Amino acid sequence: MNKPTPLVAGNWKMNGHANSLAEFEALETLVSEKGTASCDVLICPPYTLVAAMASGAKGPVAVGAQDCHFEVSGAHTGDISADMLKDAGASYIIVGHSERRADHAETDEIVLSKAKAVHANGLVAIVCVGETEAQREAGKTEEIVLGQLANSLPAEATPDNSIVAYEPVWAIGTGKTPTTADVAEIHTAIRSALVERFGTAGKMFKLLYGGSVKASNAGELMVAENVNGALVGGASLKAHDFDGIIDAYR
Ligand code: 13P
Repeated sequence: MNKPTPLVAGNWKMNGHANSLAEFEALETLVSEKGTASCDVLICPPYTLVAAMASGAKGPVAVGAQDCHFEVSGAHTGDISADMLKDAGASYIIVGHSERRADHAETDEIVLSKAKAVHANGLVAIVCVGETEAQREAGKTEEIVLGQLANSLPAEATPDNSIVAYEPVWAIGTGKTPTTADVAEIHTAIRSALVERFGTAGKMFKLLYGGSVKASNAGELMVAENVNGALVGGASLKAHDFDGIIDAYR
């Protein structure tokens, strides 16, 4: 195999209650009945639902979390460790999402230590990078994205324990998306940086695109060069909408 298996991942953000588990079950039914063809599928619910979702999961859809603390345990009120999330049944953890970077002042250094904690627990880290609108307008997209990548992705990253998600901040929840050519350009720059750093292994990291992905644009975004799946916010909350994105791989 010389290409990464794509992943279609849902990030529920701060949405979902116990009754939302029915959406997860509906998604599992759709995925197993229609078949995923050529991609893996993941849902990252809020912490409150990770254990229930993971314990009820039948297999076709993996369960992950949206963040973690970098330490294993201790006096960190309100925080959750990667070790605890593994215990709850998560197999992936998103780190460095732009909403964490902005709302909680997370630096590349913090994101790096979180990714290391994910690896230390044998889970897969989805490391997010992406430029703001002002940075894009200043022509700094590549500089920002490659800088975040270099400083947030641990040296021990491998295609098995790490995934990179490119999410332009200005495209998140706005309905705006870059063109397929723009996505291909930055994903190809990320791929080159990974190959430069990790050698041929760099070719096998999954590179997800995120930011206003929906069923109606997934087809064109997912065929962009070096795009190996999507990280989806709003359109992952309803099983039917999310399944429409998975259709890009059927
Ligand atoms: P939207 O799909 O709602 O734009 O969110 C993208 C995102 O931030 C996923 O992590």
